Amino acid sequence: MESFHQKIEKNIGLLGILTAVVISVGGIVQIMPLFFQKSTTQPVEGMKPYTALQLTGRDIYIREGCVGCHSQMIRPFRAETERYGHYSVAGESVYDHPFLYGSKRTGPDLARVGGRYSDEWHHTHLMHPQDVVPESNMPSYRWLDTTPADARDIEAKMKALRTVGVPYTDADIAGAKKELEGKTEIQALIAFLQGLGTSLKDAR
Ligand code: HEC
Repeated sequence: MESFHQKIEKNIGLLGILTAVVISVGGIVQIMPLFFQKSTTQPVEGMKPYTALQLTGRDIYIREGCVGCHSQMIRPFRAETERYGHYSVAGESVYDHPFLYGSKRTGPDLARVGGRYSDEWHHTHLMHPQDVVPESNMPSYRWLDTTPADARDIEAKMKALRTVGVPYTDADIAGAKKELEGKTEIQALIAFLQGLGTSLKDAR
């Protein structure tokens, strides 16, 4: 009589199925608790949702593919925290849909770039990075300076985010179009960058 174990070893199909079952159980045990832990589902204290201007900037960041060269995720290693500041915590990104953690770092991590430079620095840098960092291989984004920020869908976007848990008030949504009036894309992008990583208190 073959033992059950011998049967599994000789039957590649059965082995495959049982392996998948074991891995799924392991995965569920590891991942499921994160859905119910406060530290991974609750925003950090005092965190505010993106303003209409920042939200527009975030969409420009996505459109221009900045995430292809920049991560927004500081790992809890000394080499990272000394360079970028406090490691990223889950509560800082609960309002991010989708997350922009990224994984490619051609340029530095941007998770805590907010407030590190002046708005003027960012403007000069985005117009022509080599004017402030001569050896930079970051491309310039000059057209953002002359393109008006697109306000057409802003209210719909904020409402959509509200349905997935971002606490926008009716007043926030009503004032959104006005906030974008006369603003350029570069101003929106800079507003987004300047807010990055600033909600965690004592982060630096
Ligand atoms: C081809 C890769 C590449 C792309 C695409 C790119 N960057 Fe960069 N970025 C870099 C590199 C390299 C640096 C470091 C040198 C420098 O400061 O210019 C950098 C630096 C930066 C810095 C300064 C970070 C710091 O801590 O000093 C900011 C802010 C920034 N990039 C924003 C952006 C934004 C916003 C976009 C999209 C509009 C973007 N980058 C697209 C490569 C890239």
